Amino acid sequence: MAEKSKILIIGGTGYIGKFIVAASARSGHPTFALVRSTTAPADQPAKANLLHDFQAAGVTFLQGDLHDPDSLVRAIQQVDVVISAVGSWQLKDQTKIIDAIKDAGGHIKRFIPSEFGNDPDRIHAVEPAKSMYAIKVQIRRSVEAAGIPYTFVSCNFFAGYFLPKLAQAGASGLPTDKVVILGDGNTKAIFLDEDDIGAYTINAVDDPRALNKILYSRPPANILSHNELVSLWERKVGKTFERVYVSEEDVLRQIQESPMPLNIILAISHSSFVNGDQTNFEIEPSFGVETSMLYPDVKYTTVDEYLDRFL
Ligand SMILES: NC(=O)c1ccc[n+]([C@@H]2O[C@H](COP(=O)([O-])OP(=O)(O)OC[C@H]3O[C@@H](n4cnc5c(N)ncnc54)[C@H](OP(=O)(O)O)[C@@H]3O)[C@@H](O)[C@H]2O)c1
Repeated sequence: MAEKSKILIIGGTGYIGKFIVAASARSGHPTFALVRSTTAPADQPAKANLLHDFQAAGVTFLQGDLHDPDSLVRAIQQVDVVISAVGSWQLKDQTKIIDAIKDAGGHIKRFIPSEFGNDPDRIHAVEPAKSMYAIKVQIRRSVEAAGIPYTFVSCNFFAGYFLPKLAQAGASGLPTDKVVILGDGNTKAIFLDEDDIGAYTINAVDDPRALNKILYSRPPANILSHNELVSLWERKVGKTFERVYVSEEDVLRQIQESPMPLNIILAISHSSFVNGDQTNFEIEPSFGVETSMLYPDVKYTTVDEYLDRFL
């Protein structure tokens, strides 16, 4: 059997990164996480616990920082695959990872830059989301121009971000009496459990079918309109909520009037729930592959099952 690739995750201590690190270690890949000297400060025991869990899972820590090019090159020289899961504020700095992959000798078999959301090349988002997606596009073009083998992961909505609020932008939790819906609520969106995002991402790293492709996730049971999501929850709790529909004009006004980060959450929700940017195009074999078809062995968590956690 071919040896499993050695995988470095940069941003592995972040929200989605930790699921990718866990999936990599679980699947038997030698797994390396870039860790900063500041990653686990004394006032953040959760980070220390996370590092402890990584260590127990056999993850190797490599000290480094996006702003320390030598540390990136040293880390990249030890692995075959690089996954970046850095946060929105570090997206631009991924050019430093691209430079380090080149400086490390061009041996990297696959690079997955930090995307993990809507496809930035097929988005129709308004500001401030538009600029964030534009950076992700720039990074795609830089990766392609450098000739680095890649997979771009387009996994749509993190379930853990959206389902605990029943996908209401800016809400603090599940509805009690009213539920706020952007647009007419009939546009389909896609929700992915974070463990499944980790599993699909790691499955793709050694898969030639995902080489230089966009890896989309459209598990059939998890493609739901906002109205369908609300109806599903109503059936579970045996209660009906008043549906408050916000017109597109009002959504756009709210985006302009809201502070950060609500404005960006609203703009991403507008793109997905009003424009339908997660589902309004076909995945053509020339540019994309779909995870539930490539990896039927991954028994993904359905939205129905995910919502049961809140009962
Ligand atoms: N689809 C969705 O629903 C959704 C939702 C949210 C985000 N996303 C996307 O998911 C991706 C990851 O976002 P996230 O929210 O999971 O990230 P995050 O929680 O903000 O994590 C950021 C990670 O980057 C690391 N980092 C920060 N500065 C660094 C530096 N100078 N050098 C090295 N590492 C550094 C952090 O390390 P420390 O632990 O040391 O600070 C941490 O591991 C982004 O592309 C984002 O747009 C998608």
